Amino acid sequence: MQLSKGLLIAIEGIDGTGKSTQARRLVAALVKRGYSVALSCEPTGGPHGRRILEASKSERSLSPREEVDLFIADRKAHIQELIKPALKEKEIVVLDRYYFSSVAYQGVLEGMTPDGVREANEAFAPEPDLWLIMDTDPATGLGRVNRRGQGTTGFEREEYLEKVAAVFRSLTGPRIRHVDASASVDDVAGQIEAAVLDLCEKHGEA
Ligand code: TYD
Repeated sequence: MQLSKGLLIAIEGIDGTGKSTQARRLVAALVKRGYSVALSCEPTGGPHGRRILEASKSERSLSPREEVDLFIADRKAHIQELIKPALKEKEIVVLDRYYFSSVAYQGVLEGMTPDGVREANEAFAPEPDLWLIMDTDPATGLGRVNRRGQGTTGFEREEYLEKVAAVFRSLTGPRIRHVDASASVDDVAGQIEAAVLDLCEKHGEA
C-alpha cells in the first residue's frame, strides 16, 4: 500500500498505560495490510538517550534545564537519523513517546511550563499527523509498572505523575486523540487501528 506522503503517529501517556504494547500491535496491523512502517521510541538508545536513562537511575538528579536539554538533544538526533529519512520514504513512523512527553514530564518541573517546553520542541520537531494520548489515572499506571517487576525509578513517583497526567489530559487539538487506556488491550488496539487506518485512507496514493 503506497501513501502520498509519510505519516507520523505518536503514542503518548504516563508510565504503564500500555503504550509500547499498543505501538507494537499497531505496527503489526499496518504491516499486515502492506504498509511500510518504522517503529521507534524516545528516549532513544543513542548517546543522549543512554545518559537520560543513567540519570534517572542515579541519586544525583539533573536540573530541570539539563533534563529538557538532554531530551531535546536526543530528539534532534532521532529526527535527523530516523524520523525524517523514513518520512521521506513515505513510510508510517510510529513513535512510542515524542515531544508531548517532554511537555508533560519536564513542563511541570520547577521553573518550567508546558507551553515553554512545547515551544522549544516545536522550533525543530515535525508535528505528528496523529497524536494518540493514552489516558489513565497514575495509580493504575504505577500498579502496572510494579506488577511488571520493574520497581519505581526516579521518574515514576505518583505525585509527580498526577501532574504529568493532568498536562496530558489538557492537550487538545485537531490532530490529538485521547484514548481511554483503562479499556481492554483489544479494545484500545481496535480504536487506535481504526483511527490510523482512517488517516491512511485519506493519504492513499490516487
Ligand atoms: P519509557 O522508556 O517510555 O518508559 P516506560 O516504558 O516506563 O513508559 O520512558 C522512560 C521515562 O522517560 C518515562 O518515565 C518518561 C520519561 N520521558 C520524559 O520525561 N520526557 C520525554 O521527553 C520522554 C520522551 C520521556
